[in-house]
Amino acid sequence: MANLSLLLAVLLSLSLSVVLAADASALQDFCVADPKSQVLVNGLACKDPKLVEANDFFFSGLNIAGNTTNPVGSRVTPVFATQLPGLNTLGISIARIDYAPWGLNPPHTHPRATEVLTLLDGTLEVGFVTSNPENRHFRKVLHKGDVFVFPIGLVHYQRNVGYGNAVAIAALSSQNPGVITIANAVFGSNPSIAGDVLAKAFQLDNATINYLESKF
Ligand SMILES: *[C@@H]1O[C@H](CO)[C@@H](O)[C@H](O)[C@H]1NC(C)=O
Ligand SMILES: *[C@@H]1O[C@H](CO)[C@@H](O)[C@H](O)[C@H]1NC(C)=O
Repeated sequence: MANLSLLLAVLLSLSLSVVLAADASALQDFCVADPKSQVLVNGLACKDPKLVEANDFFFSGLNIAGNTTNPVGSRVTPVFATQLPGLNTLGISIARIDYAPWGLNPPHTHPRATEVLTLLDGTLEVGFVTSNPENRHFRKVLHKGDVFVFPIGLVHYQRNVGYGNAVAIAALSSQNPGVITIANAVFGSNPSIAGDVLAKAFQLDNATINYLESKF
């Protein structure tokens, strides 16, 4: 009987961990990341709590604009568990995103997080696309103070459609949301995906695939 209830408890916890896509909840007040630990765990190993100090829960510099001089004209400044060790195991993080005029945060997904974007300044066109077979595109133009949510795992993008720079703060439901930028993952993988696979997938000729691969 005890074995049966143990089995049920294990099965229940397994099914819960499958249902809840967000980060697992913490089992202690905090587990400040120890960047020097060699232990491989899901997340980062905990620093000795006796050595934890206020600075472990602190990050400075989100007032500084990211450098948008790059081919897409945008820059993400992440504050994930790697940058802010106190976020380890807490299932939440934040980022600043800067956009030059017409700058683009290209189509990408976060495999582990829903994102809530707050536009602090400027005008952004934002959108996301649902999964197959509908591939429905939800699109909206945001103004200063507007908030938009990108559901976990869905391909989304932002583009600056205003006259000046734009800046947004993204809150993410993971300490380490991950980013899969579609073009980079598909055309810039290392080693690369066979050209004829991509040619057939995208219904393009080999030369066009070679050209796209040279860009990423
Ligand atoms: C921004 O990035 C560009 C391209 O990498 C570089 O040339 C430039 O010096 C950077 N600007 C600043 C202020 O760091
Ligand atoms: C494209 O490249 C593949 C090998 O990567 C080759 O088998 C195929 O014949 C090529 N197709 C064309 C139309 O050149």
